[in-house]
Amino acid sequence: MISDITAARDAALTDIAGASSPDEVAAMTTRYAGKKGELAGLKKQLGSLDSIDAKKAAGAAINEAMGAVDSALDERRALVAADAMRQQVQTERIDLTEYVGTATRGHAHLVTQAWERLEDVFVGLGFCVAEGPEVETDWHNFEALNMGEGHPARGEFDTLFVDHVPPGGKPGTTVLRTHTSPVQIRTMLAEDPPIYVIAPGRVFRRDTPDATHMPVFHQIEGLVVDRGISMADLAGTIDAFTKAFFGRGWNSRLRPSYFPFTEPSAEFDIQRPDGSWIELGGCGMVHPNVLTAGGLDPEEWSGFAFGFGIDRMAIMRHGVADIREMFSDDLRFSEQF
Ligand code: PHE
Repeated sequence: MISDITAARDAALTDIAGASSPDEVAAMTTRYAGKKGELAGLKKQLGSLDSIDAKKAAGAAINEAMGAVDSALDERRALVAADAMRQQVQTERIDLTEYVGTATRGHAHLVTQAWERLEDVFVGLGFCVAEGPEVETDWHNFEALNMGEGHPARGEFDTLFVDHVPPGGKPGTTVLRTHTSPVQIRTMLAEDPPIYVIAPGRVFRRDTPDATHMPVFHQIEGLVVDRGISMADLAGTIDAFTKAFFGRGWNSRLRPSYFPFTEPSAEFDIQRPDGSWIELGGCGMVHPNVLTAGGLDPEEWSGFAFGFGIDRMAIMRHGVADIREMFSDDLRFSEQF
C-alpha cells in the first residue's frame, strides 16, 4: 500500500510540474486532490488493512502525499497565473509612442472640452478644483444649504431619490445630487479658509429631455470663503471669468434673484459683443447658515458662491440648437468640434 501511495504521489507531482496553463492546473486539482482522485481512493482502502500499525503508517503516508500534492498545486497555480498575466500584458501592450497620423486621432467630447477649459480659466484666476460624490445625502444636498425638510425650494429640484438607507439613516434621504452646491459644504468641512475652489461635475434632475433640458447634465460650482469678501469681489470675479472664457468683447451683469443658500442672491448674465444678453447661472453671498453648517463662524468669515450649467454654456458658445445632441453618440455631431 505504501508503495502505491508513493507511486501515486510521484506521478501526480511530475504531472503537476508540467502543467502550463490555469485550465490544466484546474483539471489536475480535480484529478489529484479531488474526492475521486487516486489518493482519495487509496484512503478509502485504509479500512481493509488488517493491522493498526499498517493503517497508521499508510494513513500518515497518504496525508503526507496529499499535503505534497496540495502545495505543488498551489505553487503551480500561482506560477501559471503569473505567466498568463505576463503573456497578456505582452500581447495587449500598446505602443504609446506610435504615431498614427491626424486622420484617425480622436478628440474630447464637447462637454469635456468646455469642462476642461473652464477649469483652466479658473485655475488661472487662482482657484483649486474640488470634487464631491454624485450620490449625495439629503443633508449635503438640501439641509446644510439652508433648505430644511419641507422647504418649498426643494420642490424646484425634481429630485431623484435612491433606494439606499445609509447606516443609522432614514429611508428617502439618499439622492442623486441635484446641483454641485453640496460640494460647498464638503469643502468647508474638509478645509480651513481661505477657500478658493471650483467644483465641476455631473448633476441629476427628474426632467423630461427636450431641446433645453436633460435629466443628467453638468454644472460648475464656485466657492470663495475668506475674510472681508464682498459682493464686489463676486461681481469682479464673474466679469474676469467672462472676459477670460468668452473674450474681451463680452460683459457681465448681476440681477437680483433668490436662492436659499445665498443672501443676497443674483442671476448672472453675460453680454455678447453684439449687445444681446444671455442668462448663465446663479450666485450670491454665502448664507450665514451655510457657513455655520460648513463649520465656519459667519462673524469671522464671508464668501460668495456661483453655479452654472456647463452643457448650456457649451451649446451657447457653439450655437447648438438642441441640448440632446450633446448626449447622442452621433459622430457626425461630435466630429464638428
Ligand atoms: N445651485 C444653484 C442651482 O443649481 C446655482 C447656484 C450656485 C446659486 C451657487 C447660487 C450659488 O440652480
